[in-house]
Order: sequence, then C-alpha cells, then structure tokens
Amino acid sequence: MRLVVAGAGAFGREHIRLLSALADVDLVGIADLDRTAAQQAADHFDVPEVAADAIELTNRLRPDGLIVATPGPTHVAIATDALTLGIPVLVEKPVAMTFADAAALANAAAAGSGFVLPGHVLRFSEAHRRFVGIAQSNEVGPILSVTARRHRDDDHARRYVEDPVLMTMVHDIDLALWVTGNDTGATNILACRRPPGTSRSETLATIERGSGAVWRLATAWTFAIASCPTDRIEVVGENGSVELDVDGSIRIFGENPRRIDVTVDYDEALRAEHGHFIDCVREGKSPTAVTLDDAIAGLSVAEAILASLETGEVTRA
Ligand SMILES: NC(=O)c1ccc[n+]([C@@H]2O[C@H](COP(=O)([O-])OP(=O)(O)OC[C@H]3O[C@@H](n4cnc5c(N)ncnc54)[C@H](O)[C@@H]3O)[C@@H](O)[C@H]2O)c1
Repeated sequence: MRLVVAGAGAFGREHIRLLSALADVDLVGIADLDRTAAQQAADHFDVPEVAADAIELTNRLRPDGLIVATPGPTHVAIATDALTLGIPVLVEKPVAMTFADAAALANAAAAGSGFVLPGHVLRFSEAHRRFVGIAQSNEVGPILSVTARRHRDDDHARRYVEDPVLMTMVHDIDLALWVTGNDTGATNILACRRPPGTSRSETLATIERGSGAVWRLATAWTFAIASCPTDRIEVVGENGSVELDVDGSIRIFGENPRRIDVTVDYDEALRAEHGHFIDCVREGKSPTAVTLDDAIAGLSVAEAILASLETGEVTRA
C-alpha cells in the first residue's frame, strides 16, 4: 500500500507519525507548500520523496491513496486531482469550505474509481461509539436534544484562517448527525458570536431539526492553553440522558443511573480511521463508517450557521 500525505503541519505530522509505524504501508511521499517542513518530516520518518506541490507529487508517484491534511481551502483542488487519477483520498475536515464545493468533490468521486473518506476522526473513537450506542438506545429514548461544547485555546484564532464553525464546531455537527440521523427534513438555525467579527470569540448555535431533536452547540476560541475546558456532549431523551466528557466519563441518567469510565484515545481513533481507509482501498469498496454524504450534510448545517452569523437571522439548511 503506497500512500502520500499532503500537509506536514501539526495534524499532517500526526498522520505521518502513525502511518509510518504500519508495516503494510509504504509512505512514499510528503508534500507541503513549505518544502522545509516536508523535508523535515520526510527525514524524520524516512520517506523518500518530497515536494512543495501536492498535485505534482500525486501525479508523479501515483500512490494507492492520498491523505489530505492541508488547510481547508486547499482540500477540494488537491483531492479532485487525485480522484481524476482514480486515487482514493482521506480528506481532513472540513472536506470543503462550502456545500457547493463538497458537492463538486462528490461529482469527481462519482465520475471515477476513487472515493473520499472524510477525516471525521471521532467516528472512529471507541468512547464516542459507545456513547452514541447508549444515546440511541431505549435507555435514553426518543431524542429531544443534543448539547455540545468544544472550546479551544485562543492560539487557534491566530493559527487558522478557517472559521471556528468549519474548524471546530464541525465535529459536533457531525456527532449530532451521527446520533440523531440525517433524515429529519428542514432545519432552522440561529447562531450568534460574541464578540462578533473575530475568531477569538464564542460561537453559539441552536439548530432545530424539522421533526427531530434540537441541537445546542458552543465553540469558544478564547481560552489559555493551560485552562481549556474538556469537550463535552449531552443527549437528552424522553427516558433519560447520557453525557460524554472526554476527560474520561460517560454518565447515564435514567432507570439505571451509572458512570462508565472511558479513555478517549485520539491516536487509537486515528489508527482506526487509517485502518478503514486502507481496507477500503485494498478491497476497492466505499467507506461505510462515515461517508462523503455525511460530511456534505454537516457542511450544509455549517453553512447555514455561518449565514445566520452574518445576518443575525434564522436560516434554513
Ligand atoms: N480531525 C481532527 O481532529 C483535526 C485536528 C487538527 C487539524 N485537522 C485538520 O487538518 C488540516 C491541517 O491542520 P493543521 O492543524 O495541520 O494545520 P497547520 O497549519 O499546522 O498545517 C497545514 C500545513 O499545510 C501546508 N500547506 C498549506 N497549503 C498547502 C498546499 N496547497 N499544498 C501543500 N501544503 C500546504 C502548510 O505549509 C502547513 O505546513 C486542517 O484541515 C484541519 O482542519 C483535523
């Protein structure tokens, strides 16, 4: 299995670190606009080829699969080129910056033999899978609401050009879609940001699904690194509730109240994501754990949240 990684920044290096430890994977190339970053990662992990241009490297090496871990605005061009060559791609979130761009990506995938696995790593986290299983059980019952917070240090506001909704809240949008399903019709969305007009802010969104649950999502990029609260998600149903705090607990309130100790292991989740990608490439099948359609559904909600932030009004997805 010959793989190329595009992007040798903070998260690209995480992909490279874990992939380079796999015996059945040959990491054959790394591309980064910052050629020095690509070269440093290649030297460290013994990868033979580097380039500044991900598209040139993909065309030259024709790998079996490509991992795209560059900034969001570059994802579609790099992934589309690979798909045109029939090469499957694992694309980091957000797969695209807009719903329309993601739909174009889906067309490129449909036109060839490749596929897109969205890098929604929490779908591969054992603790999150357990949490979702309980949330969808009779113990919680028909779901009334999903409430999530995902705060990050304020360095994010300096490091990333992408909006906090597309960078961070997109995880909770995907979790809420996963928990509640993606077939509840029209959605009304109201979002606000304080202070407005800057990424160093808190974004709050209320998402009222047509015939289903109400989601309340919050993301703040305002914290000092040392004191950022842990990610937390709660699902309330007609029979009880369940909440996951990534500091290590699932708590269930209902007929059989209890606490389950869990470990949220991000390396293990990323390894499982890689495993799913590699299996799909090897067996020539499409991803099932999370699909491009899931990512597109999430982007539709994200785009409506951004529109509500812009207008201050209720929008629809
Ligand atoms: N799944 C997750 O939990 C998770 C976590 C962190 C980041 N990410 C995603 O990973 C991606 C990268 O994030 P990061 O934190 O590594 O960012 P980063 O800024 O640390 O790294 C991005 C790298 O891409 C390079 N680059 C920029 N444009 C390029 C291009 N056109 N071709 C090749 N290289 C290019 C930059 O030089 C930089 O080295 C983003 O899409 C981000 O949302 C996902």
